[in-house]
Amino acid sequence: MPKFKTEELKVEDQYKLMSGSIIPRPIALVSTLGPDGYNAAPFSFFNCIGVSPPMFMISCSPRDGLGGSKKKNNVKDTVANLRHCPEMVVHIVDYYLRNRMNVCAHDVDSSVDEIEEAGFTIQESEVVKPPRLAECRIQFESKLLDIHEMGKLPYYLILGEVVYFHISDSVINDELHIDPNSLDALGRLAGSGGYTRILDNFVMQRFHPPGSSPPGDIFEAAKAAAKLDRKLKI
Ligand SMILES: Cc1cc2nc3c(=O)[nH]c(=O)nc-3n(C[C@H](O)[C@H](O)[C@H](O)COP(=O)(O)O)c2cc1C
Repeated sequence: MPKFKTEELKVEDQYKLMSGSIIPRPIALVSTLGPDGYNAAPFSFFNCIGVSPPMFMISCSPRDGLGGSKKKNNVKDTVANLRHCPEMVVHIVDYYLRNRMNVCAHDVDSSVDEIEEAGFTIQESEVVKPPRLAECRIQFESKLLDIHEMGKLPYYLILGEVVYFHISDSVINDELHIDPNSLDALGRLAGSGGYTRILDNFVMQRFHPPGSSPPGDIFEAAKAAAKLDRKLKI
């Protein structure tokens, strides 16, 4: 098995190993408000952190990329805008929105209205200033909790809190379960053009809730399944 000591790896190779291993990654399309107007950009270094309140993280590289210069304020519009107005709307990108999302990924001058160029319709939010993108079926109106600078480049770790959920009827039921097949969320893989869709779902016996001990039969069934995998040399 090849092994690599991190400090001997080039930054680009560290990126390849991280982005190729941690897959698939959900994609947040983030609308923000800056001095020049609205902006939207996609981020796949994105995930849920927890609830009470509902919290998420997004990680933004410097504007000049991985090998970029160390100049001050080398930040993408999303980070600059969040410093200007600490609010955002996070949209989940689905398969049908992939081409519109892709337009928003271009590093163009902040005077260019990427939202209009992509063909999204903007809609007023309920409680935050940045707008919602009407075509997106999951929209989280959110407040910025913090921006942490991390690492040598640095990366900007954006921490946010969802204050208002908008979820389309087409993906949610009365019990607030979201149907992954209807949502058809896009997943990011590695490389310049790698994506995936959720086309193969399966179910495994549920874990017991945290803080409780596992019901004996569920634990026995889980162990038996793992033992069978070892026997079949999976
Ligand atoms: C699917 C996808 C995922 C991306 N994920 C990230 C990411 O996690 N972090 C990042 O800094 N840039 C990411 N990018 C690149 C940004 O979207 C791109 O730099 C964008 O222009 C930033 O826009 P802004 O300057 O308007 O904030 C991603 C691009 C695409 C297409």
